[in-house]
Amino acid sequence: MPVLSSLLLALTASASSALLPRVDAPAPFNSSLFKDLNVSRGLNYHYYAVPADTGKLTLLFLHGFPSTSYDWRHQVPFFQDKGYGLLVPDMLGYGGTAKPLDPQLYVSSLVTRDIIDILDAEGIEQVVVIGHDWGSKTVSRLANYFPERFHSCAFLSVGYMTPALFATPFEERINLSKAVLGYDNFGYWDFFSSEGADQIILDHLDSFWDIAYANDTTTTITDWSPLGALEAFITNDTKVVTVDYVTPEERAIQMEAIRQGGLAAPLNWYKIARGTLEGQDDKGIPQENALIHKPIFFGAALRDYGTVSAPIFLAGALVASDTDSSVTIREYNSDHWVQMALPDEFNGDLLEWIESLGLDA
Ligand SMILES: *[C@@H]1O[C@H](CO)[C@@H](O)[C@H](O)[C@H]1NC(C)=O
Ligand SMILES: *[C@@H]1O[C@H](CO)[C@@H](O)[C@H](O)[C@H]1NC(C)=O
Ligand SMILES: *[C@@H]1O[C@H](CO)[C@@H](O)[C@H](O)[C@H]1NC(C)=O
Ligand SMILES: *[C@@H]1O[C@H](CO)[C@@H](O)[C@H](O)[C@H]1NC(C)=O
Ligand SMILES: *[C@@H]1O[C@H](CO)[C@@H](O)[C@H](O)[C@H]1NC(C)=O
Repeated sequence: MPVLSSLLLALTASASSALLPRVDAPAPFNSSLFKDLNVSRGLNYHYYAVPADTGKLTLLFLHGFPSTSYDWRHQVPFFQDKGYGLLVPDMLGYGGTAKPLDPQLYVSSLVTRDIIDILDAEGIEQVVVIGHDWGSKTVSRLANYFPERFHSCAFLSVGYMTPALFATPFEERINLSKAVLGYDNFGYWDFFSSEGADQIILDHLDSFWDIAYANDTTTTITDWSPLGALEAFITNDTKVVTVDYVTPEERAIQMEAIRQGGLAAPLNWYKIARGTLEGQDDKGIPQENALIHKPIFFGAALRDYGTVSAPIFLAGALVASDTDSSVTIREYNSDHWVQMALPDEFNGDLLEWIESLGLDA
């Protein structure tokens, strides 16, 4: 309870400046470094911004579902102390950023434009971009639409999503994953895209959080991924042993952020991918940018069975690059949440890769 009340205090204190919702991730984030930007299409983005020391690169960290910038709490102090510039937004639908309910507003051509608006507002020409989960889709599309704004791209848990991926009808994707993995890896997208799923999850949030952070990740094969399984699991309020690397205080902060923002907006990330909106939008990707012509880092989570990072998809990550670009792959004995599960290992690898790019002064 003390954590929740201090979070609420922080929220109230920082709400003074505007009508805009303000949800600052707590320490180790420095609350005075959060900013808001009304991007060109008139939506507010809330983001953490640390200017780079002279000669240092700026790193752009993009989180996934169902999260906020707080997912990067172990990376922010590590890279900030080393003088790197940081941009860590709450993605569309989350935290202090706008939460429109129209799924069409979530397609990649629009979300990537928002991110570029943030770079423009900060006066930053090029960044190193790092994505996790659905953040990896945004990294993919940033590389497709705005390759000139990046030195290099890093994908964590979820690899490069090719323009062809969402052009394939959902039923075919389900069948393909069954054929390749032996289970219908994407079945939960059906539940996430269904009417009322947001309220069902909120009504059973403890059970939902449990399975999202289950210590035994094979649970996701039986109780998360298959069609119908996740809804059955949470409506039953089933509990499982959760990971030990998220403290009870951190869990309370994450769950409170979900309760405050709700899930109607975040689930749009699934709706556009389950349906045809993302596939249609991806037709606008210039053919010459379908492959990434920049150095790539892929952090594979070897015990993540719920997303396309399952080891079997490793090869797919390589397809992302053209023959001249360098690909660095690191494997983690981790579940989906590598940046929280193995922060020291991941931070060290990311730093080594960034330094190896030879871009720092
Ligand atoms: C937070 O950032 C502000 C503005 O840069 C700075 O003045 C302050 O010392 C920082 N606080 C901490 C605890 O680092
Ligand atoms: C954001 O910008 C749009 C125009 O792009 C404007 O109509 C709207 O009033 C602005 N919102 C805020 C909160 O400033
Ligand atoms: C998927 O597999 C099911 C069951 O084998 C089959 O009935 C269906 O036609 C397949 N759908 C597609 C789109 O391949
Ligand atoms: C959690 O998972 C780890 C690694 O799979 C295992 O060694 C450990 O025994 C598990 N802890 C609990 C409490 O189940
Ligand atoms: C429902 O809960 C019971 C007891 O907690 C458990 O044995 C059962 O497997 C659960 N069912 C589902 C679908 O998770």
